[in-house]
Amino acid sequence: MNSSTDKYQRIVNDLIKQGWSISENFINAEVAQALKNEADALHENGAFRRAGVGREQGYHVESKIRGDNIVWLDEVTDHDAPQRYLAELEQLRQVINQQMFLGLFEFEGHFAVYGPGTFYQRHLDQHQGSDSRQVTCVMYMNEHWQPEHRGELRLFVSENGNERAIDIPPRAGLLACFLSEMFYHEVLPTTTDRYSITGWFRRRG
Ligand code: OGA
Ligand code: MN
Repeated sequence: MNSSTDKYQRIVNDLIKQGWSISENFINAEVAQALKNEADALHENGAFRRAGVGREQGYHVESKIRGDNIVWLDEVTDHDAPQRYLAELEQLRQVINQQMFLGLFEFEGHFAVYGPGTFYQRHLDQHQGSDSRQVTCVMYMNEHWQPEHRGELRLFVSENGNERAIDIPPRAGLLACFLSEMFYHEVLPTTTDRYSITGWFRRRG
């Protein structure tokens, strides 16, 4: 097994064993930087929109729940940096499908930028009445992240029946994956602009 196959296999092993996985340097520094530049360019072009909560008719902006601005990746699939990231995720999708039989058929995701003082309250990613989102993947682009920048992803995992919080720094290149229906999580208030690409491997609803 070569080292790049290894990196997908390790994630799948974690997902099977515990339902979540954290990979530092899933994306190399150059691609992470290109993705951040892409987000900055999209921002300058006015492409970012306030993210909402709920779905279809229930969708609305609610700053007390989440404060990020987003651009969906399907608006930029012809751009180089998103393509390189999506190619990585495609390899991961195939290894997950081979070993977990989830029937994942696509990745739906968005750039997200959280400005200073914003957060996303504790939530689950599966929408009510739909299990199409199966695996959440969040990748970060904050190159010089320091603890005082905050904005960690707090993942609530259960160990021997007790809930434990894991705080994951939004460091450039880091990928956090978890089963969307199982894990509550939140984004702690950030003190600087916090860059990520968040998305979900989906099966047909
Ligand atoms: C989300 C989310 C986590 C993060 O967008 O649903 O939980 O770390 N994002 O950005
Ligand atoms: Mn979420």
